[in-house]
Amino acid sequence: MAVVTLKINDIEVAAEQGKSILATAKEAGIAIPTLCHLEGVSDVGACRLCMVEVKGSNKLLAACVTQVAEGMEVHTHTDQLKNYRKMAVEMLFAEGNHVCAVCVANGNCELQNMAIATGMEHSRFPYQFPQRDVDLSHDLFGIDRNRCIFCTRCVRVCDEIEGAHVWDVANRGAQSRLITGLDQPWGEVDACTSCGKCVDACPTGAIFDKGSAVGEMERDRTKLEFIVTAREQKQWNR
Ligand code: FES
Repeated sequence: MAVVTLKINDIEVAAEQGKSILATAKEAGIAIPTLCHLEGVSDVGACRLCMVEVKGSNKLLAACVTQVAEGMEVHTHTDQLKNYRKMAVEMLFAEGNHVCAVCVANGNCELQNMAIATGMEHSRFPYQFPQRDVDLSHDLFGIDRNRCIFCTRCVRVCDEIEGAHVWDVANRGAQSRLITGLDQPWGEVDACTSCGKCVDACPTGAIFDKGSAVGEMERDRTKLEFIVTAREQKQWNR
């Protein structure tokens, strides 16, 4: 196992080659904000909240998808980064229809928490008010696409942990749309095992248990971590 040494916020750390800056910083006790990262599934660098400054690079790099390298000098909480993160959260709020007062995840929402953490009071960007649909065709769950931030956690958890690949993102840019199956109503997708992993993975109130009232949705991420750990350690066979 090759080990590299680098500096994060002027602290010297050693890390296994191939590890991400995000994981290395976490081990060193430095928390970098994230939204699309979910322990146990691959990283895609979708939310850009984990951006860091790396000496010698003329652009900001996403810590979750950037590997550590020998001699790297990383800064994770400069004023520029704090402003940038606040702006990224403001854009997420402006891009969807996030009405916390009527959301099942109110009080348990990672987007809401991020807005508080970054000091966001309002969005400086024009609200887009996109026309997005709600799908309640599944017996147990629902999706309100107005609250989706395209983190793709549901896509990855369903594909990589459950192996069902029910979720996907169709189209690009402002036309992006989270779809189930071949863009069918969720309740008609035979591949869905109704495991609820997507519900536990969703950071906002987009995917929810049917029947949840405002502020009732609390996610249980420990279930996902438990499955990943058990798989890695082959605990099923004992
Ligand atoms: Fe790295 Fe979202 S956590 S881009």
